[in-house]
Amino acid sequence: GCGCTYISLQMCLHEYLLESHQSSADFRFYIKNQSRDNVSRKQVRIYQLYSRTTGKHVQILGKKINANGEDGGKYALLVVETETFGSQIRIQGKESGYYICMDKSGKIIGKLNGSSPECVFVEEFLENNYTAFVSAKYKGWYLGFNRKGRPKKGMRTAQTQQEVHFMKRGLKGTVDPQEEFRFTTVTKRTRRARRLRPNLKTN
Ligand SMILES: *[C@@H]1O[C@H](CO)[C@@H](O)[C@H](O)[C@H]1NC(C)=O
Ligand SMILES: *[C@@H]1O[C@H](CO)[C@@H](O)[C@H](O)[C@H]1NC(C)=O
Ligand SMILES: *[C@@H]1O[C@H](CO)[C@@H](O)[C@H](O)[C@H]1NC(C)=O
Ligand SMILES: *[C@@H]1O[C@H](CO)[C@@H](O)[C@H](O)[C@H]1NC(C)=O
Repeated sequence: GCGCTYISLQMCLHEYLLESHQSSADFRFYIKNQSRDNVSRKQVRIYQLYSRTTGKHVQILGKKINANGEDGGKYALLVVETETFGSQIRIQGKESGYYICMDKSGKIIGKLNGSSPECVFVEEFLENNYTAFVSAKYKGWYLGFNRKGRPKKGMRTAQTQQEVHFMKRGLKGTVDPQEEFRFTTVTKRTRRARRLRPNLKTN
């Protein structure tokens, strides 16, 4: 049959057409079945992103994005879509509906239309158990926030900076089930970092 998993839907349909003499009604079924199963393996998960530098959470307010969200805050709930295979994702604010995107100047901006490659990030799992998100379009440019929670420009980021390190956390008080083997909640190290900056205020 048609090895749909690693080729585009269009090629797949083409191959199917060549192979098949079935009616167009069957063809429609086939597409539906395929897109439910093997072609569009889009996964959607909801979690928060804890920022290593602010000790707070990424929040998508609209066009504005910062890392000053409280645990359980409504703008801190993120809908994360996994694009087909691998670790390409889109991050959308559940409340605002805006996606996190990086434009060509490296600026982090929320957009309602998340279909551009500027709104796709690749997850990188770091040895220190943090996760980083590098732009799928602009190589080496990471999603990052400074100590005030403001987004950093992509070209000023690097994987080794704490500013680009995040932990995925479930909704208030929970750990994302897929992460439970990687993290507890807040490490001794992050707690210490927070104690050293007790006056850090949101915004
Ligand atoms: C698709 O699924 C429907 C029912 O879910 C089934 O009747 C149909 O035969 C399937 N088509 C193919 C090509 O697998
Ligand atoms: C989807 O892929 C799995 C394994 O890769 C296969 O067993 C299954 O039959 C496929 N489903 C469809 C509808 O092609
Ligand atoms: C969203 O953006 C893509 C390209 O970035 C464009 O092709 C598409 O038309 C846009 N959709 C809407 C609804 O504006
Ligand atoms: C990362 O997580 C694993 C499993 O929870 C743990 O064994 C390891 O010590 C952690 N590494 C660091 C650097 O915290």
